Amino acid sequence: MVDSPEKERVGTTEYEARTDADRDGFGPSTVQDDIILEVKDLRTYFQTSYGTVKAVDGVSYYVRRGETLGVVGESGSGKSVTALSIMRLIPSPPGYIVGGEVILDGENVLDLSDKDMAKIRGSKVGMILQDPMTALNPVFSIENQVGEAIRIHQGVRGQTLVDRIIHSLRQVRIPAPERRMKDYPHQLSGGMRQRVVGAISISCAPIVLIADEPTTALDVTIQAGYLRLLKEIQAETGVGIIFITHDFGIVAKMCDRVAVMYAGRIVETGDVRQIFNEPAHPYSEALLASVPKLEERTRRLYSIEGQPPPLFDLPPGCPFAPRCAYVQDVCRELYPTIAKLEGEHTASCWKLLDFDKSKSDPDELAAVQSVSVYSQQEVEPAPEEAETVAD
Ligand SMILES: Nc1ncnc2c1ncn2[C@@H]1O[C@H](COP(=O)(O)OP(=O)(O)OP(=O)(O)O)[C@@H](O)[C@H]1O
Ligand code: SF4
Ligand SMILES: [Mg+2]
Repeated sequence: MVDSPEKERVGTTEYEARTDADRDGFGPSTVQDDIILEVKDLRTYFQTSYGTVKAVDGVSYYVRRGETLGVVGESGSGKSVTALSIMRLIPSPPGYIVGGEVILDGENVLDLSDKDMAKIRGSKVGMILQDPMTALNPVFSIENQVGEAIRIHQGVRGQTLVDRIIHSLRQVRIPAPERRMKDYPHQLSGGMRQRVVGAISISCAPIVLIADEPTTALDVTIQAGYLRLLKEIQAETGVGIIFITHDFGIVAKMCDRVAVMYAGRIVETGDVRQIFNEPAHPYSEALLASVPKLEERTRRLYSIEGQPPPLFDLPPGCPFAPRCAYVQDVCRELYPTIAKLEGEHTASCWKLLDFDKSKSDPDELAAVQSVSVYSQQEVEPAPEEAETVAD
């Protein structure tokens, strides 16, 4: 609820002003054709005292070289668990990757031994976490922490290592890196600490960088500079970025494509302009409607009624049904299949599929039901059979 014109001016949403020449607001796109990471039908479950929490339940997405994929969705929708599954950093127990593939640079990382995965983590795929203070160790110098990743993955020592540390700090625009690398985390500002976290994650030139809400802990005045820096690094290195955020203003400026998550699944994916201008899924539409806009002087902000369903007890059919303005009978019975829209735009919603149970032929219905049965089935991963991914 907003109660004054001043308070209406909150939020960062200015996503209309996008052009092809400067399509992300931070310079021309560097997207290339080759897919460097592909997540296929990934399922990650947690065994809890409440039951099996299906945190990620059939997620598929991909990232191209030089591309930024934005992942958005309400809290608890599975954005971070998907990212941690790609990194194979799911705590096990209670978490298990029970199905799917994560193809990184042509190789399914879910098939790798823990030792081989440790080599890939930080070298081929890097991750920037939300809070720089928890990512940095307060008792080690910046030199030590940036140097560790380079030493482990690239085996360099001595002056070569020092040169590489300075190079990495320079890449994230840390002034006087020769001097600042002797500092400890508490001697740096929040923005500088986040830049150090960025330096660690890019120090071994990963091909994919996962940024999980990397600017949430930053002051808004330094957010824009940090995001611009990420795009500059992307332009220099061609790294593909998975950008997880709640902020649609950031998505509009940073991302080429968007994947919208709800209750452990991708419900819509497409080019950023398709999602912003013509959201096809009712959940995306509601999410966008709930973002405050600078130019609108509304007294009450729209919010999505209700709560996401508990992931250990998903209702049959579409999990958004209890909150959806377009709900039909079929929505409560069957999970919607994927509707392919224009270009790479897809969405899982019966509204788009125009499915009518009473008019459908029995074979079609059986086919749809088999999809639904598959997606709703209880999979109880036996710990000895499930893929354990603890480090
Ligand atoms: N260790 C765990 N044990 C049990 N459940 C877990 C565990 N870790 C995550 N979950 C559950 O997995 C679901 C997805 O969590 P996740 O952290 O991926 O959400 P998110 O989309 O990243 O949310 P946020 O926007 O708040 O970061 C949540 O319901 C969460 O409670
Ligand atoms: S499938 Fe039905 S309930 Fe789900 S989002 Fe579409 S219209 Fe709404
Ligand atoms: Mg998260």
